[in-house]
Amino acid sequence: MRVLITGATGTVGRNVIEQLIALDPTVRLRALTRNPEAALPEGVEIAVGDLASPETLTEAFKDVDAVHFINFAGEQYAPLTDADTIVALAEAAGVRRATVLGGRAEGLLEQALTAGGIETTFLHPVEFMSNTLMWWAGAIKSEGRIREPFGDRVSAMIHPADIGAVAAKVLLEGGHDGETLLLTGPEAVPIKEKVAILGEAIGRELEFVELTVEEAHEKWSSEGMGPDMIAFLTEALGNTPEEGKTVVGTVEAVTGRPARSFAEWAAEHAEAFR
Ligand SMILES: NC(=O)c1ccc[n+]([C@@H]2O[C@H](COP(=O)([O-])OP(=O)(O)OC[C@H]3O[C@@H](n4cnc5c(N)ncnc54)[C@H](OP(=O)(O)O)[C@@H]3O)[C@@H](O)[C@H]2O)c1
Repeated sequence: MRVLITGATGTVGRNVIEQLIALDPTVRLRALTRNPEAALPEGVEIAVGDLASPETLTEAFKDVDAVHFINFAGEQYAPLTDADTIVALAEAAGVRRATVLGGRAEGLLEQALTAGGIETTFLHPVEFMSNTLMWWAGAIKSEGRIREPFGDRVSAMIHPADIGAVAAKVLLEGGHDGETLLLTGPEAVPIKEKVAILGEAIGRELEFVELTVEEAHEKWSSEGMGPDMIAFLTEALGNTPEEGKTVVGTVEAVTGRPARSFAEWAAEHAEAFR
């Protein structure tokens, strides 16, 4: 069996690859990337292509049985516009099964896959535990404190390895055709506890300073964030939907092992915060 992983150099894609190898070391893996020099695990074949230009994908789909899809192109996560062509190429190449990493909104790729003949499973993870690398590592290293609004916020955040594990199981073994799988971690963690867990992992007490929304906007803007991103963050953090803070058992139901905790994630990544 051969699996094509799109978004293979990203947070989730790397974990999909790792978990596919863990589940079946004999599976043949091909990674789609725009970068021919991308560093990928040994044995993973590179297919250079761009999802925004479907004509570049023909070789990537050749002899592929299953595909893990992202539904965007480019650094700003723009939705794919020519999804019909992408799905037609995959079908013509004989792809039988797909998983799709859900983004902010359902797009044309989801619609094209639903209308077509490829068995498809939609993965809808909540907030990634790994976002703390991007948002918090700098401040923890330099100041030992986190300054954020919405101090009462809780999140059922997920370990990216569990997104990878669910994708790997479905891609290799099938099932869940047409289903949307909501993926969360094993606990809904309040922000102050999240800070404390990270402090424990790095062996240093960390401070949490709650900002007002106005103070947060000033901070984000001074860090170079544009108005769209600030509006998105304010909504996502200040008005987290129920599904973002409610634990569900999908990871264990699909993979047979409990979802990984934030303490596990923090211990694995402690060095990045020291
Ligand atoms: N962060 C969260 O809390 C969260 C929660 C739920 C859902 N999500 C969703 O997760 C997705 C992001 O996943 P991620 O964090 O794994 O991504 P990421 O780390 O930002 O990596 C982006 C990946 O997309 C690939 N890519 C970008 N444009 C491409 C193009 N035109 N053609 C081919 N490949 C392209 C890149 O490949 P190359 O650069 O190698 O070409 C790279 O592998 C988004 O849809 C987001 O909405 C995120």
